[in-house]
Amino acid sequence: MSARSMTEEDYLKSIDELTLYSGCATLSQISKLLGTRRQSVYDEIGILVDRGLVVRSGKGKYLLSGSGRREANKFLRKHRVAEILLWKALKLPWETLDEEAMGIEHGMTETIISRVCEIYGCERSPNGNPIPGADGEVAVIDDIGYDEAIKLPRVEISRVIFETRDIMNFLAKNGIMPGSQVNIMEGRMFHSGSANVVEIPESIARAMRYQT
Ligand code: FE2
Repeated sequence: MSARSMTEEDYLKSIDELTLYSGCATLSQISKLLGTRRQSVYDEIGILVDRGLVVRSGKGKYLLSGSGRREANKFLRKHRVAEILLWKALKLPWETLDEEAMGIEHGMTETIISRVCEIYGCERSPNGNPIPGADGEVAVIDDIGYDEAIKLPRVEISRVIFETRDIMNFLAKNGIMPGSQVNIMEGRMFHSGSANVVEIPESIARAMRYQT
């Protein structure tokens, strides 16, 4: 991924994902996620702060502003519809969709998006995330995070909100997807696959949201 130069859209998407995953985005998290040097991240974030798309929230911590969120959503529309196309039309493996979508998402025009949605439907992405409108507005999904889910006896996975290669590989290997059932015992999460019971580590469980 480091061979590709990162765009403003890539930065906004990664700040959005990191904020959903851990409450805010730090320079080192963004650098690791994008495979980009920390200095480049620092420079780019400074530009986004100056443009009012990103705000500082404490030392070295960043969040999207209201307009940054709308811009991120416009890009997430392209990204998530690209994932639908790769999943439904090209039958690429589920765990590779987020990464492969990076190859085509910047070229997703509204004509292509409308056609994909017409043919395959655009209710949710293959990872369960809502598809924002062309205006950057997105439906609010009524689901809960790890801290609430862990207190319940049983939940269903609603979506994957933080899609790194390691997380996606773990989920795919164990047949864990949106719609999968999770049992909670003594503060630990378990998924019962067809062959065995698998514990979902907290670092991966925090990358998903749940419904009861
Ligand atoms: Fe994705």
